[in-house]
Amino acid sequence: MTSVLNIIGLEKRFGQQQVLKDFNLDVRQGEIVGLLGPNGCGKSTVLNIVSQLLPAKAAAIELMGQPIAKLGVKARTIMGVCSQDRALYPDLLPEENLDFFARLYGLSTIERRARIEELMNLFGLAAHAKTRVGRLSGGWQQRLHLAVSIVHQPQLLILDEPTAAVDVAAKIELWRLIENLRKSGTSILLTTHQLSEAEQLCDRVALMSHGRVAALGSVSELLSRLQGQTVVKVQSSDHQSTRSHALRLGWRGLQSAGELSFLLDQSITLSEAASALDGPEVSAISVQALTLEDAYLELIGQFDQIDQNTL
Ligand SMILES: Nc1ncnc2c1ncn2[C@@H]1O[C@H](COP(=O)(O)OP(=O)(O)OP(=O)(O)O)[C@@H](O)[C@H]1O
Ligand SMILES: [Mg+2]
Repeated sequence: MTSVLNIIGLEKRFGQQQVLKDFNLDVRQGEIVGLLGPNGCGKSTVLNIVSQLLPAKAAAIELMGQPIAKLGVKARTIMGVCSQDRALYPDLLPEENLDFFARLYGLSTIERRARIEELMNLFGLAAHAKTRVGRLSGGWQQRLHLAVSIVHQPQLLILDEPTAAVDVAAKIELWRLIENLRKSGTSILLTTHQLSEAEQLCDRVALMSHGRVAALGSVSELLSRLQGQTVVKVQSSDHQSTRSHALRLGWRGLQSAGELSFLLDQSITLSEAASALDGPEVSAISVQALTLEDAYLELIGQFDQIDQNTL
Protein backbone atom coordinates (compact mmCIF):
# COMPACT_ATOMS: atom_id res chain seq x y z
CA MET A 1 0.00 0.00 0.00
CA THR A 2 1.29 3.51 -0.81
CA SER A 3 2.46 5.69 2.05
CA VAL A 4 0.98 9.16 2.08
CA LEU A 5 3.33 10.15 4.87
CA ASN A 6 6.62 8.53 5.76
CA ILE A 7 8.68 9.76 8.70
CA ILE A 8 12.15 8.25 8.79
CA GLY A 9 14.63 8.59 11.62
CA LEU A 10 13.29 11.94 12.80
CA GLU A 11 15.33 13.69 15.51
CA LYS A 12 14.41 16.82 17.44
CA ARG A 13 16.04 18.66 20.28
CA PHE A 14 14.84 21.63 22.27
CA GLY A 15 18.11 22.94 23.73
CA GLN A 16 19.55 20.14 25.85
CA GLN A 17 16.37 18.07 25.72
CA GLN A 18 16.25 15.33 23.08
CA VAL A 19 12.51 15.04 22.40
CA LEU A 20 12.53 12.79 19.30
CA LYS A 21 15.11 10.10 18.73
CA ASP A 22 15.00 7.88 15.64
CA PHE A 23 11.26 8.39 15.29
CA ASN A 24 9.79 6.30 12.43
CA LEU A 25 6.17 6.12 11.30
CA ASP A 26 4.20 5.89 8.08
CA VAL A 27 0.57 6.62 7.23
CA ARG A 28 -0.86 4.67 4.32
CA GLN A 29 -3.50 5.69 1.84
CA GLY A 30 -6.94 5.89 3.47
CA GLU A 31 -5.99 4.79 6.98
CA ILE A 32 -6.21 6.45 10.38
CA VAL A 33 -3.08 6.15 12.51
CA GLY A 34 -3.23 7.13 16.17
CA LEU A 35 -0.19 8.39 18.03
CA LEU A 36 -0.49 7.61 21.74
CA GLY A 37 1.80 8.22 24.67
CA PRO A 38 2.19 10.00 28.00
CA ASN A 39 2.06 13.79 28.37
CA GLY A 40 5.24 15.38 27.07
CA CYS A 41 6.49 12.33 25.13
CA GLY A 42 6.62 14.35 21.89
CA LYS A 43 3.33 13.67 20.04
CA SER A 44 2.55 17.30 19.22
CA THR A 45 6.19 17.89 18.33
CA VAL A 46 5.91 15.17 15.64
CA LEU A 47 2.68 16.66 14.28
CA ASN A 48 4.08 20.19 14.35
CA ILE A 49 7.19 19.13 12.44
CA VAL A 50 5.10 17.28 9.83
CA SER A 51 2.85 20.37 9.53
CA GLN A 52 5.98 22.51 9.10
CA LEU A 53 5.15 24.60 12.15
CA LEU A 54 8.45 23.49 13.70
CA PRO A 55 11.78 23.01 11.92
CA ALA A 56 13.61 19.68 11.81
CA LYS A 57 15.71 17.73 9.37
CA ALA A 58 13.32 17.93 6.40
CA ALA A 59 14.84 14.98 4.52
CA ALA A 60 13.42 12.72 7.21
CA ILE A 61 9.84 13.36 6.06
CA GLU A 62 8.27 12.24 2.79
CA LEU A 63 4.83 13.23 1.56
CA MET A 64 3.36 11.18 -1.30
CA GLY A 65 6.80 9.65 -1.81
CA GLN A 66 8.67 12.95 -2.06
CA PRO A 67 10.83 14.78 0.50
CA ILE A 68 8.68 17.46 2.10
CA ALA A 69 11.36 20.13 1.49
CA LYS A 70 11.20 19.51 -2.28
CA LEU A 71 7.44 19.96 -2.36
CA GLY A 72 7.63 23.55 -1.02
CA VAL A 73 4.20 25.21 -0.79
CA LYS A 74 2.57 22.19 -2.46
CA ALA A 75 3.04 20.34 0.84
CA ARG A 76 0.53 22.71 2.41
CA THR A 77 -2.15 21.86 -0.12
CA ILE A 78 -1.63 18.11 0.41
CA MET A 79 -2.05 18.47 4.18
CA GLY A 80 -4.78 19.79 6.44
CA VAL A 81 -3.88 20.58 10.02
CA CYS A 82 -5.99 20.79 13.17
CA SER A 83 -3.48 21.68 15.88
CA GLN A 84 -4.04 21.73 19.65
CA ASP A 85 -4.75 25.48 19.62
CA ARG A 86 -7.76 26.44 17.57
CA ALA A 87 -6.54 28.83 14.88
CA LEU A 88 -9.91 30.49 14.27
CA TYR A 89 -10.94 34.14 14.08
CA PRO A 90 -13.36 34.71 16.99
CA ASP A 91 -14.87 37.93 15.61
CA LEU A 92 -15.81 36.36 12.29
CA LEU A 93 -18.80 34.15 11.45
CA PRO A 94 -18.21 30.43 10.75
CA GLU A 95 -18.48 30.88 6.99
CA GLU A 96 -16.22 33.92 7.06
CA ASN A 97 -13.59 31.75 8.76
CA LEU A 98 -14.04 29.06 6.11
CA ASP A 99 -13.83 31.70 3.38
CA PHE A 100 -10.62 33.18 4.83
CA PHE A 101 -8.85 29.82 4.80
CA ALA A 102 -10.30 28.83 1.41
CA ARG A 103 -8.81 32.03 -0.05
CA LEU A 104 -5.49 31.25 1.60
CA TYR A 105 -5.48 27.92 -0.23
CA GLY A 106 -6.28 29.65 -3.51
CA LEU A 107 -9.81 28.36 -4.14
CA SER A 108 -11.66 30.41 -6.78
CA THR A 109 -14.83 32.33 -5.88
CA ILE A 110 -17.06 29.61 -7.37
CA GLU A 111 -15.13 26.81 -5.67
CA ARG A 112 -15.26 28.65 -2.35
CA ARG A 113 -18.99 29.20 -2.50
CA ALA A 114 -19.69 25.53 -3.22
CA ARG A 115 -17.19 24.18 -0.70
CA ILE A 116 -18.34 26.47 2.13
CA GLU A 117 -21.97 25.51 1.60
CA GLU A 118 -21.01 21.84 1.53
CA LEU A 119 -18.99 22.09 4.76
CA MET A 120 -21.59 24.21 6.60
CA ASN A 121 -24.15 21.46 5.88
CA LEU A 122 -21.83 18.51 6.47
CA PHE A 123 -20.76 19.80 9.88
CA GLY A 124 -24.22 21.01 10.89
CA LEU A 125 -22.86 24.54 11.10
CA ALA A 126 -25.71 26.09 9.13
CA ALA A 127 -27.72 26.29 12.38
CA HIS A 128 -25.00 28.57 13.81
CA ALA A 129 -24.36 30.58 10.67
CA LYS A 130 -25.14 33.89 12.36
CA THR A 131 -23.09 33.32 15.53
CA ARG A 132 -19.62 34.81 15.80
CA VAL A 133 -17.10 32.05 16.37
CA GLY A 134 -15.93 33.43 19.73
CA ARG A 135 -19.47 32.90 21.04
CA LEU A 136 -19.78 29.29 19.87
CA SER A 137 -19.36 26.54 22.48
CA GLY A 138 -16.10 24.57 22.52
CA GLY A 139 -17.65 21.60 20.72
CA TRP A 140 -18.97 23.75 17.87
CA GLN A 141 -15.66 25.59 17.58
CA GLN A 142 -13.95 22.22 17.33
CA ARG A 143 -16.28 21.16 14.52
CA LEU A 144 -15.54 24.40 12.69
CA HIS A 145 -11.84 23.89 13.29
CA LEU A 146 -12.08 20.47 11.64
CA ALA A 147 -14.12 21.92 8.76
CA VAL A 148 -11.52 24.68 8.24
CA SER A 149 -8.70 22.13 8.14
CA ILE A 150 -10.31 20.26 5.23
CA VAL A 151 -11.56 23.27 3.26
CA HIS A 152 -8.99 22.55 0.51
CA GLN A 153 -9.71 18.77 0.47
CA PRO A 154 -6.31 17.61 1.72
CA GLN A 155 -5.11 14.04 1.18
CA LEU A 156 -3.53 13.90 4.63
CA LEU A 157 -5.19 15.27 7.74
CA ILE A 158 -3.22 15.93 10.93
CA LEU A 159 -5.36 16.08 14.07
CA ASP A 160 -3.89 16.90 17.49
CA GLU A 161 -6.35 15.67 20.14
CA PRO A 162 -9.41 16.38 17.98
CA THR A 163 -11.98 15.65 20.68
CA ALA A 164 -10.24 16.94 23.81
CA ALA A 165 -12.60 19.03 25.94
CA VAL A 166 -15.81 18.30 24.05
CA ASP A 167 -18.86 16.57 25.50
CA VAL A 168 -19.72 12.95 24.78
CA ALA A 169 -22.35 13.71 22.14
CA ALA A 170 -20.05 16.14 20.30
CA LYS A 171 -17.25 13.59 20.50
CA ILE A 172 -19.36 10.87 18.89
CA GLU A 173 -20.40 13.34 16.18
CA LEU A 174 -16.75 14.29 15.55
CA TRP A 175 -15.84 10.59 15.34
CA ARG A 176 -18.54 10.13 12.70
CA LEU A 177 -17.19 13.08 10.71
CA ILE A 178 -13.62 11.78 10.96
CA GLU A 179 -14.71 8.27 9.91
CA ASN A 180 -16.55 9.74 6.92
CA LEU A 181 -13.40 11.60 5.89
CA ARG A 182 -11.47 8.34 5.98
CA LYS A 183 -14.21 6.64 3.94
CA SER A 184 -13.85 9.34 1.31
CA GLY A 185 -10.14 8.47 1.04
CA THR A 186 -8.46 10.98 3.39
CA SER A 187 -5.50 9.57 5.34
CA ILE A 188 -5.36 10.73 8.93
CA LEU A 189 -2.68 10.98 11.61
CA LEU A 190 -4.10 11.89 15.01
CA THR A 191 -3.05 12.03 18.63
CA THR A 192 -5.32 11.19 21.51
CA HIS A 193 -5.27 10.39 25.21
CA GLN A 194 -8.59 8.62 24.92
CA LEU A 195 -8.06 4.94 24.34
CA SER A 196 -11.72 4.50 23.37
CA GLU A 197 -11.09 7.01 20.58
CA ALA A 198 -8.11 5.02 19.34
CA GLU A 199 -10.16 1.81 19.48
CA GLN A 200 -13.05 3.43 17.65
CA LEU A 201 -11.15 5.24 14.91
CA CYS A 202 -7.66 3.93 14.33
CA ASP A 203 -6.57 1.25 11.88
CA ARG A 204 -3.16 1.29 13.52
CA VAL A 205 -1.93 2.68 16.80
CA ALA A 206 1.64 3.84 17.52
CA LEU A 207 2.68 3.84 21.17
CA MET A 208 5.36 6.44 21.87
CA SER A 209 7.95 6.18 24.56
CA HIS A 210 11.03 8.31 25.06
CA GLY A 211 10.85 10.03 21.69
CA ARG A 212 10.31 7.02 19.44
CA VAL A 213 7.58 4.61 18.36
CA ALA A 214 7.97 1.67 20.70
CA ALA A 215 5.02 -0.40 19.41
CA LEU A 216 2.93 -0.15 16.27
CA GLY A 217 -0.01 -2.19 15.07
CA SER A 218 -3.77 -2.59 15.05
CA VAL A 219 -5.48 -2.63 18.46
CA SER A 220 -5.79 -6.44 18.28
CA GLU A 221 -2.09 -6.77 17.36
CA LEU A 222 -1.12 -4.66 20.36
CA LEU A 223 -3.37 -6.72 22.62
CA SER A 224 -1.88 -9.97 21.33
CA ARG A 225 1.60 -8.76 22.31
CA LEU A 226 0.64 -9.38 25.91
CA GLN A 227 -0.31 -13.02 25.18
CA GLY A 228 -3.20 -13.25 27.56
CA GLN A 229 -6.92 -12.90 27.32
CA THR A 230 -8.50 -12.28 30.70
CA VAL A 231 -7.77 -9.50 33.16
CA VAL A 232 -8.65 -9.83 36.83
CA LYS A 233 -8.82 -6.54 38.73
CA VAL A 234 -8.65 -6.64 42.49
CA GLN A 235 -9.15 -4.09 45.25
CA SER A 236 -7.25 -5.08 48.35
CA SER A 237 -6.22 -3.50 51.65
CA ASP A 238 -2.90 -5.36 51.40
CA HIS A 239 -1.48 -5.08 47.88
CA GLN A 240 1.69 -6.98 48.69
CA SER A 241 0.09 -10.14 50.02
CA THR A 242 -2.67 -10.18 47.36
CA ARG A 243 -0.03 -9.72 44.68
CA SER A 244 2.15 -12.57 45.96
CA HIS A 245 -0.93 -14.79 46.29
CA ALA A 246 -1.94 -14.08 42.66
CA LEU A 247 1.58 -14.60 41.34
CA ARG A 248 1.68 -18.00 43.10
CA LEU A 249 -1.48 -18.89 41.14
CA GLY A 250 0.45 -18.18 37.95
CA TRP A 251 -1.33 -14.89 37.25
CA ARG A 252 0.89 -12.23 35.68
CA GLY A 253 0.97 -8.77 37.27
CA LEU A 254 0.07 -5.87 34.97
CA GLN A 255 0.91 -2.20 35.38
CA SER A 256 -2.27 -0.41 36.32
CA ALA A 257 -3.52 2.81 37.81
CA GLY A 258 -4.81 2.21 41.38
CA GLU A 259 -6.21 -1.29 41.77
CA LEU A 260 -4.21 -4.49 41.22
CA SER A 261 -4.44 -5.98 37.78
CA PHE A 262 -3.49 -9.48 36.62
CA LEU A 263 -3.38 -11.13 33.20
CA LEU A 264 -4.39 -14.77 32.74
CA ASP A 265 -3.74 -16.97 29.72
CA GLN A 266 -7.07 -18.74 30.06
CA SER A 267 -10.58 -17.48 30.72
CA ILE A 268 -11.91 -17.60 34.27
CA THR A 269 -15.32 -16.91 35.80
CA LEU A 270 -15.83 -14.32 38.50
CA SER A 271 -16.62 -16.97 41.13
CA GLU A 272 -13.51 -19.00 40.18
CA ALA A 273 -11.37 -15.84 40.49
CA ALA A 274 -13.00 -14.92 43.82
CA SER A 275 -12.47 -18.36 45.36
CA ALA A 276 -8.89 -18.58 44.04
CA LEU A 277 -7.99 -15.26 45.63
CA ASP A 278 -10.18 -15.49 48.73
CA GLY A 279 -8.99 -13.50 51.75
CA PRO A 280 -10.20 -10.84 54.21
CA GLU A 281 -8.00 -8.18 52.57
CA VAL A 282 -9.78 -8.54 49.19
CA SER A 283 -12.75 -6.15 48.94
CA ALA A 284 -13.68 -6.36 45.23
CA ILE A 285 -12.84 -8.46 42.20
CA SER A 286 -13.82 -8.08 38.57
CA VAL A 287 -13.06 -10.19 35.52
CA GLN A 288 -12.91 -8.64 32.07
CA ALA A 289 -11.44 -9.04 28.60
CA LEU A 290 -8.05 -7.41 27.97
CA THR A 291 -8.56 -3.83 26.76
CA LEU A 292 -6.34 -1.33 24.99
CA GLU A 293 -6.12 0.58 28.28
CA ASP A 294 -4.58 -2.46 30.03
CA ALA A 295 -2.18 -3.02 27.12
CA TYR A 296 -1.27 0.67 27.00
CA LEU A 297 -0.41 0.88 30.71
CA GLU A 298 1.56 -2.36 30.59
CA LEU A 299 3.49 -1.65 27.37
CA ILE A 300 4.29 1.97 28.29
CA GLY A 301 5.50 0.68 31.70
CA GLN A 302 7.69 -1.97 30.03
CA PHE A 303 9.16 0.55 27.57
CA ASP A 304 9.90 2.95 30.42
CA GLN A 305 11.92 0.26 32.18
CA ILE A 306 13.78 -0.68 28.98
CA ASP A 307 14.55 2.97 28.19
CA GLN A 308 15.68 3.70 31.72
CA ASN A 309 18.00 0.68 31.68
CA THR A 310 19.56 1.72 28.40
CA LEU A 311 20.08 5.40 29.31
N1 LIG B 1 8.74 25.04 21.55
C1 LIG B 1 9.27 24.31 22.52
N2 LIG B 1 10.38 24.71 23.17
C2 LIG B 1 10.95 23.96 24.14
N3 LIG B 1 10.47 22.76 24.54
C3 LIG B 1 9.36 22.31 23.94
C4 LIG B 1 8.71 23.05 22.90
N4 LIG B 1 7.64 22.33 22.48
C5 LIG B 1 7.62 21.20 23.23
N5 LIG B 1 8.65 21.19 24.10
C6 LIG B 1 8.97 20.09 25.04
O1 LIG B 1 9.05 18.89 24.30
C7 LIG B 1 8.46 17.81 25.01
C8 LIG B 1 7.38 17.18 24.15
O2 LIG B 1 6.31 18.08 24.05
P1 LIG B 1 5.00 17.75 23.20
O3 LIG B 1 4.13 18.96 23.26
O4 LIG B 1 5.40 17.27 21.85
O5 LIG B 1 4.38 16.54 24.03
P2 LIG B 1 2.99 15.78 23.84
O6 LIG B 1 3.31 14.34 23.74
O7 LIG B 1 2.21 16.40 22.74
O8 LIG B 1 2.28 16.06 25.24
P3 LIG B 1 0.71 16.24 25.60
O9 LIG B 1 0.17 14.85 25.65
O10 LIG B 1 0.75 16.87 26.94
O11 LIG B 1 0.06 17.10 24.55
C9 LIG B 1 7.97 18.38 26.31
O12 LIG B 1 8.93 18.12 27.30
C10 LIG B 1 7.85 19.87 26.04
O13 LIG B 1 8.06 20.60 27.22
MG1 LIG C 1 0.38 17.44 22.65
